[in-house]
Amino acid sequence: MTRGDWWRHGVVYHIYPRSFADSNGDGVGDLAGITSRLDYLNDGTPASLGVDAVWLSPFYPSPMDDFGYDVADYTGVDPLFGTLADFDRLVAGAHARGIRVIVDLVPNHTSDRHPWFLESRASRDSPKRDWYVWADSRPGGAPPNNWMSAFPRAGPAWSFDHRTGQWYLHSFLPQQADLNWWNPEVRRAMDEVVRFWLDRGVDGFRIDVAHRMARDPELRDNPVVAVGDPDDPTGQARAIRLAGTGVKLFDEDWPEVHEILRGFRRTLDAYHDRMAVGEVYLLDLRKLARYYGSGQDELHLAHNFVFLHQPWKPEAFRSVVDEYAALLPPDAWPAHFLGNHDHSRVASRYDEGGNGPARARVAAMMLLSLWGTPFLYYGEEIGMLDGQVPGDRVVDVDGRDPERTPMQWDASPGAGFSSAAPWLPVGAGAERVNVAAERDDPTSMLSLYRRLIWYRKGSAALRWGGYRSLPDAPASLYAFVREAPGERLLVALNFGGEPVRWALDPGLGDSSRLELSTDPARRPGPLRPAELVVGPDEGVILQLGQPLG
Ligand code: NOJ
Repeated sequence: MTRGDWWRHGVVYHIYPRSFADSNGDGVGDLAGITSRLDYLNDGTPASLGVDAVWLSPFYPSPMDDFGYDVADYTGVDPLFGTLADFDRLVAGAHARGIRVIVDLVPNHTSDRHPWFLESRASRDSPKRDWYVWADSRPGGAPPNNWMSAFPRAGPAWSFDHRTGQWYLHSFLPQQADLNWWNPEVRRAMDEVVRFWLDRGVDGFRIDVAHRMARDPELRDNPVVAVGDPDDPTGQARAIRLAGTGVKLFDEDWPEVHEILRGFRRTLDAYHDRMAVGEVYLLDLRKLARYYGSGQDELHLAHNFVFLHQPWKPEAFRSVVDEYAALLPPDAWPAHFLGNHDHSRVASRYDEGGNGPARARVAAMMLLSLWGTPFLYYGEEIGMLDGQVPGDRVVDVDGRDPERTPMQWDASPGAGFSSAAPWLPVGAGAERVNVAAERDDPTSMLSLYRRLIWYRKGSAALRWGGYRSLPDAPASLYAFVREAPGERLLVALNFGGEPVRWALDPGLGDSSRLELSTDPARRPGPLRPAELVVGPDEGVILQLGQPLG
């Protein structure tokens, strides 16, 4: 295998440690719980899911104001999740099974309880004062500028510190103070953090808000875009939907962020075969592509949020994938995903009148047959839905509890996740949608995921082959060809609720074989190319013979 093979060609499984498996009966998932489930993830046989890597959301000591994305110690493990020894056991157990381990790096901000921030806020003369972003009031006592927190409920991105009479910046909660990356000491300190985990054997990092860190040193106001919402007077809370309007001109995607990422890359490249995938939350493919640098000197992968935000329309996904392919630098590789701990689950998000589960099967096939590295959020492989979280159980500041409910292992009251009351309620339907119920059911979502992942593993065309979309396919299909020497696959995904008959162009192949369908009733076998029918909400993978002529 060549260097970089695993992160280009493998499947990455994203674990939210609080919600995966609770080993000590306190209602919160932990590292030992994850270790106990490694065989489920990959035991080397198609009876297991077969993923090649796991990405762990933060497990570091934290006051948990943002459930771990508020780090109070970058090189420890929060007692809630276990110990460093538990982490070492997890890495050893994963590596023994050929599973790589990616940890979350949160370099943009620390907890306001991190010793660095405590020292910084102690006085204006503190040696660490400049490690964070401090600024004076504007005349009249207003915050230094109009930047807003990414969490609408948190309001302005500035909080006033009475003791020292200045404001500090926080792109998220007031409990998440932004580090000042213009300060070389901050860069050195974070580099040590990166080396700490690399030396401990991690295979890579997921970099939280990798498009932040650098910002306008003059702290100028963002342009105001009126959206007619009194709670969002500058439009910044809607920035996601206002992509391209420049509303976040000065507080993210600032040019120097690329130099910071090159610094991370230099450190990673000094180790063998490690990687960084960035959470680059920019809904602009051109900007996103720049985070790969030359293709060799910034991020190895950048999560494509434009893909995740598409409506359930074949041309929407096709145009994102095709446009992006044209924008990426040579040798760069996309990272596709459809869910994470910040977004509604696929079977819920795309549901229209009950077809969510069927669409989720098509989405699974799309994710696992496309060009690029697929990232799969825990629970998607069994078709989990968004949980129903009653008002008195809501714990997240930004409405993300439904996608963080406990992994459903079995039909017991705690879903096999915990022997105690779980920190978030178990999702409705867990008595049907769970690993135990699906494991031996060939029609289940879990069986489909396993088939797709193991098929992908054995297919050069899917793992690293070329990609070419077929825009002339019938309108409700997203169809593409994946090809490697000696192997040519056609993937046809029906986004509509009606069957589609499609007489394949003879140029595509003179024979074909149905390899996989999302319809559990449809069996693999020979299929005449002139007679392809793709059922409602069905996806198929066909092996094509040599083209005619
Ligand atoms: C992105 C993370 O995915 C999200 O969960 C978190 O709240 C913010 N970054 C802040 O760290």
